[in-house]
Amino acid sequence: MDRELALEFARVTEAAALNSARWMGRGDKIAADDAAVKAMRSMFDTMNIEGTVVIGEGEMDEAPMLYIGEKVGLGKGSKVDIAVDPLEGTNLVAKGMNGAIAVLAVAEEGCLLHAPDMYMEKLAVGPGAKGVISLELSVEENIINVAKALGKQVEDVTVVILDRPRHGKQIMAIRRLGARIRLITDGDVSPAVATALPDSGVDMVMGVGGAPEGVLAAAALKCMGGDMQGRLVPENDADMARAQKLGIEDVSKILTLDDLVKNDDVIFAATGITDSELLKGVRFYKDRATTHTVVMRGQTGTVRFIEAQHFFAKKPKYVKMEG
Ligand code: FBP
Repeated sequence: MDRELALEFARVTEAAALNSARWMGRGDKIAADDAAVKAMRSMFDTMNIEGTVVIGEGEMDEAPMLYIGEKVGLGKGSKVDIAVDPLEGTNLVAKGMNGAIAVLAVAEEGCLLHAPDMYMEKLAVGPGAKGVISLELSVEENIINVAKALGKQVEDVTVVILDRPRHGKQIMAIRRLGARIRLITDGDVSPAVATALPDSGVDMVMGVGGAPEGVLAAAALKCMGGDMQGRLVPENDADMARAQKLGIEDVSKILTLDDLVKNDDVIFAATGITDSELLKGVRFYKDRATTHTVVMRGQTGTVRFIEAQHFFAKKPKYVKMEG
């Protein structure tokens, strides 16, 4: 993929974040998501790509825009597969809480796992703990391995996990072992990416969250040399059918980072909507708004943080600021 595309994709997540951030705290997660989707969709249409959405807002009959299989871009240039979550953490924006991002990953055709919309068991770590995690090991074994690899005491390892009843046993096991926990209410992509940043304060992410979010996190970890494993958690026949439709034969297979994202010709971009350990959220001023974006390329491992100012009077026509 053309390296110039990386900055173009940063514009796409910036637009989604700017539009969605207007809805912060207004208690309307659907409107916040809709604003992000519309901005992201219109920004894609300015790009010289022949893109196919492989992870998006749902099936064609469920979502009007950015649905699975939708073609985006001007239809010329690189042929790419795109995974999007225009608003990752809808409740977080609706309630004005930390951790919401606009996020996407792009790879060559066929290189991103076409993750069905269901749960996935996940383990994610940064480069310092690459190769020492496994979904076949217990919670305790994984944390001990990560502590050793990072040269830390187990008590100093910080694990991020979604605060859900389904994680009760895991949380008890982590507490018994004595590691630190940060429970989050939503948004597990941002902390998974943060495991690869030395100063983020996050060492590992574990637990069950969305499978599409798993692929997005994997794209970032692929770029940064981190590690991840995932295993789909189908809950019913509909989930099984969804997985089969996407060509996944063995739903119980442990998916390695290479299964989730096949090669390193991948671009990941995310813009903060509300603040997080990864990115600052959108700020609004008299005449402008500011965004904080991370964009990375797997082929070179380059990670860029971009702070941008967007002047209201000069905003491009294709970004309709709502709210
Ligand atoms: P949204 O779809 O509202 O953006 O929620 C995102 C999220 O919190 C993910 O980050 C996480 O993987 C998943 O939902 C968890 O699902 P559940 O809320 O069903 O436990």
